[in-house]
Amino acid sequence: MAKIEFLNVTKTRSIDGQMHNVLGDVSVAVQEGTILAIGGPSGAGKSTMLRLINRLESVTSGRILLDGVDIATVDPIELRRKVGMVFQLPSLFPLTVQENLVYGPKLRGVEPSSLETKVREILGMVDLADLSPERMAGELSVGQQQRVAIARTLMNEPEVLLMDEPTSALDPTTAKSILELVCDIRSKYGMTVLFVSHSLEHSRLVGDRFLLIVDGKVIEESDIEAFFGGPSTELGRKFLAGELR
Ligand SMILES: Nc1ncnc2c1ncn2[C@@H]1O[C@H](COP(=O)(O)OP(=O)(O)O)[C@@H](O)[C@H]1O
Ligand SMILES: [Mg+2]
Repeated sequence: MAKIEFLNVTKTRSIDGQMHNVLGDVSVAVQEGTILAIGGPSGAGKSTMLRLINRLESVTSGRILLDGVDIATVDPIELRRKVGMVFQLPSLFPLTVQENLVYGPKLRGVEPSSLETKVREILGMVDLADLSPERMAGELSVGQQQRVAIARTLMNEPEVLLMDEPTSALDPTTAKSILELVCDIRSKYGMTVLFVSHSLEHSRLVGDRFLLIVDGKVIEESDIEAFFGGPSTELGRKFLAGELR
């Protein structure tokens, strides 16, 4: 069974007073433990796909399944614990690193004393073992903040990680280190990752599979190296050649 499955998902939105199919009849399956890199021109509907998965928005028609269960029937809070999201710019609370990390678990009533070990473990996981958890999040570099944002998501032990251009705001070296982190997390936790990026290089580095969407439609979904070795569609070839922006 797929970890995440889109079944004929359509999302309609009013743009400048006109109704548009932002996603049109999207069907795609993501197997557990895989990293699906998602690419496509700006405005193709990539972010919308991710936002639908943790119900920041709802589908107009069709269904999205998590472990075979329609997410429309799952409590959104429970859903968002299982499905974590990381954005382009880290949006941390104006609190310490520690407070940011324990925020979610505390809300769920997790015993605070059990959290200290976990905070240390997760900070180590995101390569911030040397960072004092008492530092204010706002004082950190953007790269460190992105690691803390990922760490905060990992505190919930998500099964699925949605990443929307998580490397776009970072310098090349920091971006690479975040990509390595994504791969590490997947190996360690067997997480399923949906990774949206406009960088072909970054998609190829982390992805197992590649999904190309153009104008809200799935054009190709294939093995990452097969795609980069030679797309099977004309739009895929144009996209790789940089002719679809
Ligand atoms: N909050 C919004 N209100 C109206 N239209 C939106 C909103 N967010 C995105 N859109 C439109 O929906 C389409 C898909 O957007 P999006 O999913 O953000 O694309 P991508 O992430 O691939 O760049 C675009 O036409 C965009 O302009
Ligand atoms: Mg986007």
